[in-house]
Amino acid sequence: MSLEDIVLQVQECRKCRLWQTATQGVPGEGPIDAKVMFVGQNPGSEEDKTGRPFVGRAGKFLTKTLAEFGIKREEVYITNIVKHTSPENRKPYPDEVAACLPYLIQQIKIIKPKVVVLLGASAKETPRVDGVKYFEIVHPSAAMRFTKMREKFRAQITELADQIKT
Ligand code: URA
Repeated sequence: MSLEDIVLQVQECRKCRLWQTATQGVPGEGPIDAKVMFVGQNPGSEEDKTGRPFVGRAGKFLTKTLAEFGIKREEVYITNIVKHTSPENRKPYPDEVAACLPYLIQQIKIIKPKVVVLLGASAKETPRVDGVKYFEIVHPSAAMRFTKMREKFRAQITELADQIKT
């Protein structure tokens, strides 16, 4: 299976109910040889419109913060634990996460990043693949809204930038 196969499968996916209320699937984007992979919860409305992950407010904030610490968005792979948006942006239900996980597991196995960065609580459910480091950090939407969370987020990105340099 290739990353392109996953894109096609996500676009046609009917394994849970979310496709019914979404415009399109958002499989993820980035280079196949990315050293770092980011995993969020699921696409929001901007992502649903464009088919691209993390392009709304939280995404712009993430991209800008990464750039400040020398991490280029074009060099990382960005995806979500669930590939379709949800009604009113609710948290995905456990059965939706379970149905979608095989895509993420395949993406991690194909890309084999050095580090998988889990953004926020939902992403923590990402299964651990051998030989890959996992790094849990604050979700950029929380970092955007709360000063304390923003400080923590920036400290975590600093640590991540250090880790991927070596
Ligand atoms: N929040 C997420 O968790 N994922 C996205 O793609 C956008 C916002």
